[in-house]
Amino acid sequence: MTRMLIRGGRILDPSEDRDEAGDVLIEAGTISEIAAGLDVPGAEVLDAKGAWVAPGFVDLHCHLREPGQEYKEDIASGGRAAVAGGFTAVACMANTQPVNDDPAMTDFILDRALHDSPARVYPVAAATRGLEGQVMTEMVALVDAGAVAFSDDGRTIMDSGVMRRVLDYSRLVAAPVIVHCEDRTLVSDGVVNEGPVSTKLGLPGNPAVAEIVHIHRDLLLAEQVGAHLHVAHVSTAGGVEAIRRARERGVQVTAEVTPHHLTLTDEATLGYDTNTKVAPPLRGEADVRACRAGLVDGTLDAIATDHAPHALHEKELDFASAPHGLIGLETAAAVVLDLVRSGELTPLEWVRRLSTNPARILRKSGGSLAVGASADLVVIDPERRWTYDPVKGHSKSRNSPWAGQTLTGRVVATVVGGRLVYHVDRGILV
Ligand code: DOR
Repeated sequence: MTRMLIRGGRILDPSEDRDEAGDVLIEAGTISEIAAGLDVPGAEVLDAKGAWVAPGFVDLHCHLREPGQEYKEDIASGGRAAVAGGFTAVACMANTQPVNDDPAMTDFILDRALHDSPARVYPVAAATRGLEGQVMTEMVALVDAGAVAFSDDGRTIMDSGVMRRVLDYSRLVAAPVIVHCEDRTLVSDGVVNEGPVSTKLGLPGNPAVAEIVHIHRDLLLAEQVGAHLHVAHVSTAGGVEAIRRARERGVQVTAEVTPHHLTLTDEATLGYDTNTKVAPPLRGEADVRACRAGLVDGTLDAIATDHAPHALHEKELDFASAPHGLIGLETAAAVVLDLVRSGELTPLEWVRRLSTNPARILRKSGGSLAVGASADLVVIDPERRWTYDPVKGHSKSRNSPWAGQTLTGRVVATVVGGRLVYHVDRGILV
């Protein structure tokens, strides 16, 4: 039986409110013991002195681009980027080519993931056929094939009648509906947050209210039908507040926020760097503050990357023409450690938002180091400094606003199902 001993780390397990020094023993793919001073002859030892040992991160929101756009990313490269970033599981969005709106496509993604990806992959199926916002997909068949949630991410379902029906039927399969809230008529041709920055840049603005209107609508519809609504990439103070109020009145809503919306403002776009062009756009200071406060008080449950790879030739266009999106799997943990350093989150609460809460939202195992749980875990050195170079990263794409920056905090090792799949000094190991 293979045994691994992760020795001497600070163990952070939100599922058991555990924050203490100790050793973790893994046997036959599961956590078999946690105690101080374990001595297990014959076990492979991973030194975690000075590091945190936590359940593996679970990304609620990424784009793996396979099938159809493998020049940007595929399930293998996205899976490698995931484990290099400490993610042991990722939920991938349906805006592939063709769209994941059919059980055969969900099955294909799962099959590819099984063979190619060191991280677990959970397919999110489209809510409407072709992401066209008109005809619902066959939710029961998609869930039977392995879909974990439904979303037309990248496009907003503009027809409220269709949206209500999607929410209504989602109750039958007990899967969340993940919504991308941007009213297309209000976004219009906006490419950057509407405000002083869009004026300075001379680019059309995308107003905060485009997001807020749709968050309100979807909260009302979810409330009316009693469905689980999950709001993707919240970026506005008004959106956070709407979710907070809905929670208070008992609406079944969960929400996520991205590392970029937590740490960058629209000022980052002032140099016309297309790697800062994202949907929804980077917002102003007050919105960033509200997103951080929402994450801290639990209104926003989880941090999700919205890892959205695009090729160099696509991003090397003028700002208005380049596609939206930035990559984030490999930098997410380091970027959001900022919230621990600032004192806004304790390390345990930080892990809860990257691991335990997203696993709960997807109704998947993970997010726990309880004895008997599958050994999906991450070792992080919160002090290690490194310079991020996307060229040396594992994603096929390079569209990161953090390229060339020195970050503090690094994933040292990632274990999936008891297998060491990534080590910072040895690279990807499968
Ligand atoms: O910036 C984004 N890029 N936002 C989305 O919702 C979609 C994504 C993509 O697929 O590139």
